[in-house]
Amino acid sequence: MIKEKIINDVKEVFSNHPNRLKHVYGVRDTALKLGKKYHLDLEILEITALLHDITKYKTKAENMEIIDSYFPETAFIYEQYNDEILHAFSAYVVAIKTYGITNSEILNSILNHTVGRPKMSEYEKVIFISDYIEPNRTYKSCVKVRKIVEESLDKAVYVTLDDSITFFEKAHSKIPKIAYEARQYYKELLEEKMTKIEVVVKALEDINAFDIIVFDTKTKSPFFDYFVISSVTSNRQLQAAISHINQDFAENNYEHPVVEGRNSKSWVLVDCKDIIINIFTREEREYYNLEKMMAGVDQVELKQEK
Ligand SMILES: [Fe+2]
Ligand SMILES: [Fe+2]
Repeated sequence: MIKEKIINDVKEVFSNHPNRLKHVYGVRDTALKLGKKYHLDLEILEITALLHDITKYKTKAENMEIIDSYFPETAFIYEQYNDEILHAFSAYVVAIKTYGITNSEILNSILNHTVGRPKMSEYEKVIFISDYIEPNRTYKSCVKVRKIVEESLDKAVYVTLDDSITFFEKAHSKIPKIAYEARQYYKELLEEKMTKIEVVVKALEDINAFDIIVFDTKTKSPFFDYFVISSVTSNRQLQAAISHINQDFAENNYEHPVVEGRNSKSWVLVDCKDIIINIFTREEREYYNLEKMMAGVDQVELKQEK
């Protein structure tokens, strides 16, 4: 089976480079973890991770020979890419020629693991990020990205690109054009995308919840960033709010929220980890008066719906 061969070959190729072998396993384990979280095919991720650096220790001349044997146009590669990242191109060729890989997710993820590209697939993003944050990486930026990837793949890609480009600019390294294009693409994508709290507020507005107040608890609580209080008129509206939030979260690839008090007719608490949403019927809201408990906490100004 091809996977067995890949596993054995990886061990052999890196037999004199134990740290690189550790890195490859680290990328694999991280990619599998993210793959589970984002519902991807784990076999694809495992094979990609094992092969992504397979040509890392080839000399520049060897890498060039492999690359020239496959790509019709190579001048731009040598012009724009650092010698250290040529291995992404040669590993792509080796995956095809030596292992007969035809799966485009595997091939593109290998090819783009160093500097990314605009519009990466979920597989490409997972491998790109895993290469950056696997447990053996120690630089400061990866600690930040490890946290961000729990919330959003796109945001993690953007921060990885931005930090890497800054780092390579400082080191006066060659940076291919596609890295800048990728950074710009993900920057614009994030700007367009509503933030999670905006998604929450919009979901509440969509079911006509009223008196929505959002407290910014980022500096007040280590557990959550926003605390939302809102009112509805009926239990039916309350259930509609829950299903609307669930649906919008799924569409945005956010983790499924935990709903407490689902059977309560008058107060439901939706725990989205970084956002706590309280939905009350009017009387209940007055009775519990959470606003009083939150006195002194900054409120987020909500955009008026047109
Ligand atoms: Fe690499
Ligand atoms: Fe790598």
